[in-house]
Amino acid sequence: MSSEFDPSSFSLIGQKLTGHSGIVELMDDLGRAMTIDPEMRMLGGGNPAPVPQMQQLLRTRMRELLDANGDFDRMLGNYDPPQGNPRFLAALARLLSETYGWRVGPENLAITAGGQTALFFLFNILAGKFAGNVRKKILLPLMPEYIGYADQMLEDELFVGCRPEITWPHGEASRTFKYRIDFTAVDAALAQGNIGAIAASRPTNPTGNVLTDDEVRHLSRLAAERGIPLILDNAYGTPFPNVLYVPAEPHWDEHVVLTLSLSKLGLPGTRTGIVIAPAAIAKAVQSLTAIIGLANTNVGQQLVLPWVESGEILRLGPDVLRPYYAAKVQTAENIVREIFTAAGVNWAVHATEGAFFNWLWLRDLQIPTRELYERLKRRKVLVVPGEYFFFGLKDDWPHRHQCLRINISGTEQTLREGLKIIAEEAQRAS
Ligand SMILES: Cc1ncc(COP(=O)(O)O)c(C=O)c1O
Repeated sequence: MSSEFDPSSFSLIGQKLTGHSGIVELMDDLGRAMTIDPEMRMLGGGNPAPVPQMQQLLRTRMRELLDANGDFDRMLGNYDPPQGNPRFLAALARLLSETYGWRVGPENLAITAGGQTALFFLFNILAGKFAGNVRKKILLPLMPEYIGYADQMLEDELFVGCRPEITWPHGEASRTFKYRIDFTAVDAALAQGNIGAIAASRPTNPTGNVLTDDEVRHLSRLAAERGIPLILDNAYGTPFPNVLYVPAEPHWDEHVVLTLSLSKLGLPGTRTGIVIAPAAIAKAVQSLTAIIGLANTNVGQQLVLPWVESGEILRLGPDVLRPYYAAKVQTAENIVREIFTAAGVNWAVHATEGAFFNWLWLRDLQIPTRELYERLKRRKVLVVPGEYFFFGLKDDWPHRHQCLRINISGTEQTLREGLKIIAEEAQRAS
């Protein structure tokens, strides 16, 4: 293309899109590894595992759609309303209100093209420029937080993150730590008065941390007191897909925005996100869908519709996904312990309370993990460097350069080979 399309002729947003962006480069690396580099040991990305029982259920369901009178043709041949498929929305509202007593009707729901899109819409609806030259920000009470948020604001510098407390529930010798919210830091951030919403992923990507019910209630109270929404990103958690290894109550209230997704149920290719929100927020999300894409994909909604109508969708996590991933988490933890101890690396790992990540803390690492990422990539191991997940923190902190996110949903062989190389490189760089 000729140089007349030099990015300097783009709008500020356009220029931002042609510059370097963590998530864009990483998704590109990860996507390439998945499609054209079979030798790459894939420990990066957030791809769910191919869970055989889930795949079987989905195949059966797709056959049902093909065989049923007209369902398949309707699924592919029609635009849904931008809010989502009316039958799906009615079934979901009924399921949530009957199961949890939430006062949720279809007007509180909106479908998006994945949870990622939902968060982009929500952040830009609730933060940015307001009337009277006011600029509002999103408060992330527990950094590290999901890398996918980092570049989502149309304006820069709109995230305020809080450093966590590092706790050792079973003592430091156990090498398993857990981040907890430092509510003094959260109070101080809120006191600045320019927060448009509080947001957290639960379980948290990258760490596998699950905010405790007390932490969630405390955040919810703080948000309610200030008249701002609490956004809970539930890509992995409860009510579904429910890839959780510790008990956790689902939480919604009339000032809470809960985002769900069908991706980690095994359907990332359908790009289906669900927003459960105060009606005005759900309406704004629908409008954005109409403006940006007219309508959503409806394949995911149609595939899971009978499971939402019957309530079975709530059982898929505990019955199908959790046993599968819990075994993987245990295997990964055993391998990490064995390999890192043998290699003499000073390591620790965050408790995996949900999702399917290991958040490794290489305590003596002398190089940034971005550099370690490059060295590992040259040895055909793909991970995600920890620095990306601390985007909301202003101050430097050695800890932010010492962590790696490992996706443990691949095969045991890939995990073992990859972790061995990580341990070797970590030892070399310590
Ligand atoms: C915490 C979190 N939120 C949101 C998403 C977005 O997922 P999707 O857009 O596939 O629903 C992800 C994806 O990995 C995630 O980890």
